[in-house]
Amino acid sequence: MPLSRRIQSNIGSLTAMAMGAVTLAALAVVQGTHAQTTASNAQATGPEKLSPVPVPGPLARPRSLKQVGLPASQTLAEVPANNAQTPEKIALGEALFFDPRLSVNGTVACASCHNPDRAFTDGRASSVGVYSRVGQRNAPTVLNALYSEAQFWDGRATTLEDQAGFPIFNPSEMGQPNLNAAVTKIAAIPEYQQRFQAVFGQAPSSLNLLRAIAAYERTLVGFDSPFDRFIAGDGNAMDASAKRGWELFNTKAHCNRCHAAVNKDVTYFTDFGFHNIGIGILRHNVTPLAQQAQRLISKDNLPAVDQAAIQSDLSVLGRFLVTRKEADTASFKTPGLRNVLITAPYFHDGSQETLWDAIDHYNKGDGLKNPWLDEDIEPLALTENEIDDLAAFMASLTSAEYKEIGEKELARQRALSRVSRPQRDTARAFGPKPQQPKP
Ligand code: HEC
Ligand code: HEC
Repeated sequence: MPLSRRIQSNIGSLTAMAMGAVTLAALAVVQGTHAQTTASNAQATGPEKLSPVPVPGPLARPRSLKQVGLPASQTLAEVPANNAQTPEKIALGEALFFDPRLSVNGTVACASCHNPDRAFTDGRASSVGVYSRVGQRNAPTVLNALYSEAQFWDGRATTLEDQAGFPIFNPSEMGQPNLNAAVTKIAAIPEYQQRFQAVFGQAPSSLNLLRAIAAYERTLVGFDSPFDRFIAGDGNAMDASAKRGWELFNTKAHCNRCHAAVNKDVTYFTDFGFHNIGIGILRHNVTPLAQQAQRLISKDNLPAVDQAAIQSDLSVLGRFLVTRKEADTASFKTPGLRNVLITAPYFHDGSQETLWDAIDHYNKGDGLKNPWLDEDIEPLALTENEIDDLAAFMASLTSAEYKEIGEKELARQRALSRVSRPQRDTARAFGPKPQQPKP
């Protein structure tokens, strides 16, 4: 479908909110264990408080396209023909991204959960939205989201324009009754009236609002890391441990089976695909949840799918909510790993605190009682030194502007990993691959 039609048709479905609201009432039925789920996440330590909205500083600025390692022609190709980049549009999108007036009660902006100081994440296991409502999922970075073939952990939105509408009216994020309510609020502000006129020659509309935000997001590129300088020929840009980690990544640890667009990917660190790698699934009884999803939510009702993903236990079904294919049960998008050091905690549910915990998960091949587990998950027999090397490699994917924050974060994670390794299971890591049950 051409992009413009895709946006239009999605906005049609976004405004059909009556349907979504009915389904949400039905969803309340399946929300029983929500508090329990959140409490078992690594970071939950009591009632969650809403964070103050970040003020845009230097890290919020559109990034240079002249970064070492940046795929220049692909970056330009990601700009859709109907939403050309202009400096004024990008600046308008930035203002909107940081403006809590887009939310129902003026307390939550996009940046509340996508804070530039944390590489556009929020440092929490699950995000907190209006009225301190806690969602089910970890906020991914917006850096390099422009390259993704699908947005969200389950890919329920295609483009950045499609994506940006959902949080505005998700009841646990920005809480507006619908997208038009946000547009009406913005359209009543004289400064925005002028800026939309100047950029689009029109009053604010839902289409232009989403286009401005997406234009800003397309400037949020993150390359120029020690790894990029190493690949560009500076042999000293990475230390020996990180170099060994890069080798392990592509061999014994076979991370590149998923975190690579081509065999030895030096750019994206994702196959842009979806996999069940055994995160979270063991806490849930998936089959009855899948039956509930089939009964309660049409897969074409995207606002209802969005609410299920953010607000109910059906969240664990992952990509299944979008495709309804059994093979997609509890599978999630492979995230790119750039700036991953800054974006802790990890995985779609934020259940792992450090890079060491994430590697321990893979090392033991966790989730083998799960019939939908990806065949590429198996015990890896990585030694402690090799685990350190993989962590050092991932830390080397930190962009220059996050160097200092990254050094502090690496020290924090390393110290924590010395005293806490909840996922470590050396016997399983060095054991055989167990038999997996059939679906
Ligand atoms: C209350 C917290 C919260 C707010 C507010 C919020 N987001 Fe998010 N964002 C999230 C979470 C959580 C996810 C992942 C949800 C999922 O995948 O189901 C996400 C996902 C995304 C993604 C997809 C990234 C990827 O790799 O798939 C983008 C892009 C994004 N948000 C942009 C925005 C924009 C633009 C706004 C404002 C209009 C916004 N977000 C408001 C928490 C938030
Ligand atoms: C079978 C495919 C697959 C393999 C192999 C794989 N990954 Fe992943 N990785 C994923 C998927 C899918 C996710 C998201 C899963 C989720 O959240 O449920 C993920 C998430 C991660 C995350 C969390 C990132 C974030 O933003 O939260 C890290 C770190 C990571 N992987 C590192 C590795 C390393 C290191 C290896 C090799 C030891 C590896 N992965 C092997 C598919 C894979």
